[in-house]
Amino acid sequence: MTGQAVRACVFDAYGTLFDVAAAARHCSAELGDRWQPLADLWRAKQLNYTWLRSLMGRHADFWQVTGEALDVAMASLGLSNAGLRQRLMDLYLRLEAYPEVPAVLRRLKASGRACAVLSNGSPKMLKAAVDHAGIGELLDHVISIEDAGIYKPHPSVYRLAVERLGVPARQMTFQSSNAWDAHAAQAFGFRSIWINRFGQPREPLPERPEAELTSLADVPAIVEAMRP
Ligand code: LAC
Repeated sequence: MTGQAVRACVFDAYGTLFDVAAAARHCSAELGDRWQPLADLWRAKQLNYTWLRSLMGRHADFWQVTGEALDVAMASLGLSNAGLRQRLMDLYLRLEAYPEVPAVLRRLKASGRACAVLSNGSPKMLKAAVDHAGIGELLDHVISIEDAGIYKPHPSVYRLAVERLGVPARQMTFQSSNAWDAHAAQAFGFRSIWINRFGQPREPLPERPEAELTSLADVPAIVEAMRP
């Protein structure tokens, strides 16, 4: 549709569309009350290693980084079990999508807007997650940072979406549950929406996102109400 202030909506993947805690949660029978600390530490290390590798100029893809982060998280919690490691990594390829995701994408598509994923995930990981969630046909583009060879929040990553969709950043919203990602996308020029799923405090980073929601459910309404 012409005349819309927002022509496309770009989504972060992990934590935003897909529940990153689901892998450890599925192993809770084995992990007991360590499943949540493991999920949290795994995620924290995974993100740390993306930032550190980017600053060091030593890129490795997200599958490798995710495995290395899991090794450190398991060791920190005194877990040494090759079978468990394998199961957790396999589950990472089949993370659950948050329940509102299909309906939100469908409504945005019905309004004539393009929908895309822009993620640290490797192409193989993203394809597996998208296929598992059954949302492939609702997505016009699934963009991996591998095409930039550096992780978020480097601006060249956000530029991939502008290039691929052929839409100016200012005419796209960017949704992320990761506050730092939402701030960085706003700094790049997107209209950013922070999906604050866990009631986290605001981060003192430059460029506050334009909106804050507790899930993706209200994204279509917010997008439709946006003016240039
Ligand atoms: C991603 C991470 C940041 O999907 O969640 O890019």
